[in-house]
Amino acid sequence: MDQRIAMFDSKSYDIEAFTKANEHFGYHITYFEPKLTIETAPLTQGFPVVCLFVHDIVKHKLANILAKTGVKLIALRSNGYNHIDLRASAGKLKVVRVPKYSPYSVAEYTIGLILSLYRKLHTVYLQTKGNNFSLRGLQGQELHGKTAGVIGSGQIGSIVVRLLTAFGMKVLVYDVKEDKSLVNDTHCHYTDLNTLLAESDIITLHCPLLPENHHLINKQTMAKMKEGVVIINTSRGGLVHTGDLIAALKSKKVGGAGLDVYEEEEQFFYEDLSHSFIDDDLLARLMTFPNVFISSHQAFFTKEAVHDIAQTTLLNIRSFFEGKALENEVVYRIKEQKS
Ligand code: NAI
Repeated sequence: MDQRIAMFDSKSYDIEAFTKANEHFGYHITYFEPKLTIETAPLTQGFPVVCLFVHDIVKHKLANILAKTGVKLIALRSNGYNHIDLRASAGKLKVVRVPKYSPYSVAEYTIGLILSLYRKLHTVYLQTKGNNFSLRGLQGQELHGKTAGVIGSGQIGSIVVRLLTAFGMKVLVYDVKEDKSLVNDTHCHYTDLNTLLAESDIITLHCPLLPENHHLINKQTMAKMKEGVVIINTSRGGLVHTGDLIAALKSKKVGGAGLDVYEEEEQFFYEDLSHSFIDDDLLARLMTFPNVFISSHQAFFTKEAVHDIAQTTLLNIRSFFEGKALENEVVYRIKEQKS
């Protein structure tokens, strides 16, 4: 098989990391700057492998086009795969992902968001740039003695639990499965979702986006939370109902939000729009709150994690080219994904 790879949404850091990792593999990688869409899909002609990131969204129609242009494998440079319609791809395209890369990247960034919101670091940074050294409005809160609620205690969430306990926080955890070693090591408490919502001062999301937890954070669930709760989402935008979050910020029910992801992020994140305007009233409104910290899906973005991503992606592709079992294949399961 022609060992050609078409990489979409390629940024300079992707090209740098993949060029280096590819020294050991020697594949022919063509780097395309645009995202993979129905319009750019003809570029895939002659490439058995496409390498995609989180904003290359493959729904039914695009999956069919890819099958026709001769694509056989979608190699995701991401852990999450909610942007790929696995049902539409099943039987036509194989999908592999990077199930593990330095989880410290996202976990440590999460702590950064929490500290910034609790101590107003993002505010003071801008204030002192304008020669304003006043402390007015900058009083923060201490993490020590507060309760954190961690939803999802997998690779990333479990590290977040460990880091938060080091601050002297009580940590409540909700997950569909319990990690006993995490309890032994940290004395965190697994609990039901309602208890976590009701008792946490800070709630941080580390579960995948699935049909059953779409808009997990909404009007009803926020009503169960403490006044002034801080919500952190470094997982997936669709876990939070943005309109409901804005209403809760306006009423001060929610005291702060750290958002590295946004449900409509693919139109904006990773693009320089400084000479344009935000054509999304929810995102524009969110950015007006001083107690909302928005970043553009960068929690993963460390030297270590990008190296891991390039390495695992090329290993996945090598298994495919060599006809070996695909260890990191994602397959459609009826309960897991609706089309
Ligand atoms: P993981 O698969 O190791 O852990 C996910 C955990 O969530 C598992 O323990 C699982 O049992 C639990 N879970 C599944 N369904 C749940 C539900 N309905 N309610 C509560 N818990 C549930 O995944 P990992 O590596 O920890 O990543 C977590 C999420 O972080 C990913 O799904 C992805 O969306 C996001 N992510 C974000 C990045 C960023 O740059 N902002 C980068 C990498 C991942």
